[in-house]
Amino acid sequence: MAIAELKYLHGFGNEFESEAEPGILPIGQFNPQKVAKGLYTEQFSTTPFTSPRTKNRRTWFYRIRPSCQHSTFQPLSSKLLRSGPISDVPPTPNQLRWSPLEVPEEPKDFIDGLTTLAANGQVGLQGIAVHLYLANQSMQGRYFYNADGELLIVPQSGKLRIHTECGILQVVPREICVIPRGMKFRVELLDEKARGYICENYGSPLELPERGPVGANGFANDRDFQTPVAAFEDREGACRLLCKFQGSLFQSGLDHSPLDVVAWIGNSVPYKYDLQRFNVINTVSFDHPDPSIFTVLTSPTDTPGTANVDFVIFPPRWMVAEHTFRPPWYHRNLMSEFMGLIEGVYDAKEKGFLPGGASLHNSFSAHGPEAEVFEKASSMELKPQRYENTLAFMFESRLVLQPTQFALETEALQTDYS
Ligand SMILES: [Fe+2]
Repeated sequence: MAIAELKYLHGFGNEFESEAEPGILPIGQFNPQKVAKGLYTEQFSTTPFTSPRTKNRRTWFYRIRPSCQHSTFQPLSSKLLRSGPISDVPPTPNQLRWSPLEVPEEPKDFIDGLTTLAANGQVGLQGIAVHLYLANQSMQGRYFYNADGELLIVPQSGKLRIHTECGILQVVPREICVIPRGMKFRVELLDEKARGYICENYGSPLELPERGPVGANGFANDRDFQTPVAAFEDREGACRLLCKFQGSLFQSGLDHSPLDVVAWIGNSVPYKYDLQRFNVINTVSFDHPDPSIFTVLTSPTDTPGTANVDFVIFPPRWMVAEHTFRPPWYHRNLMSEFMGLIEGVYDAKEKGFLPGGASLHNSFSAHGPEAEVFEKASSMELKPQRYENTLAFMFESRLVLQPTQFALETEALQTDYS
């Protein structure tokens, strides 16, 4: 088994190429009659063939064995993993908040520990699902791909090493990573336990938002997105390949590691991003810009400005607004907001919203700062103030997020929140 050094290619959405052994990548074409070292060619498309050039994503793999070499898929229990639409419990307009869920004692790898809190839309079409991962062991001899959507992974505690068809990504809290829809991977834990959030995006692939009048720089910059270099496992022996397809889990057997891509060319690739590199832009006069000013990535829809999902962060920053109520004001919005806390304290909620916890404010559910925060922020002297020790995020979707039965019945649901 070859493990690449953890180095990365830089950029976002560009076409990259990488080879773990020299002389594999064909020159001037993708699909030669014979590939060096007897490798098989495979195209991996995550957008339709005829998507516009700026949206088109596909990668050519040069691999040891064809991907179709596996046994028949058989259904596998999905446990607490769910997909949209969620119909087992009625919708609720109530504000919802959850205390952090602990990683269970019994053995759970990344897939076994997937716990869905909410979903919307229709799997494979539009919408998102919000999952937690609660794991205490690495995936051993198990590999996974998700035919239903790409995965935005937001670690909250514990380091992950994610082995993918394109190579290896090491991801720690304060970083995120995105695995393309359909890409095979396995997750290795580098700490005893790992906990975090996942936005499963059924819609168009996440991309960087437009900057508008902000100009050519600012927010998340393309150069800070990192893609792995090719690394492959030439490993024989019984393995299992799991997939989620139309909301159900399946499992098949194979006699080798499916992460056997020796070289690749393309732009449908996993990537990671350090949230500390986000260039925060905010008011230097008065009032409070909408939180869209903090958008890191967006999955647009056919309706301009109306995202399937925006990934928004609330990182450490200076607050300098004059004669202004500085925390988020009370609001009722069309868009539905799922929030999580990676570390520290969120400025509108100083109690009850804990690292690893979550809140859900669906379409037009009224919410805003706690009473004590309101009193303090209404009367405080407004000096420039640095918000330290904070990193919250939001998955904001145009569609209402329906909580799962588990999410409404777990003891972690705070009964006194509203
Ligand atoms: Fe909100």
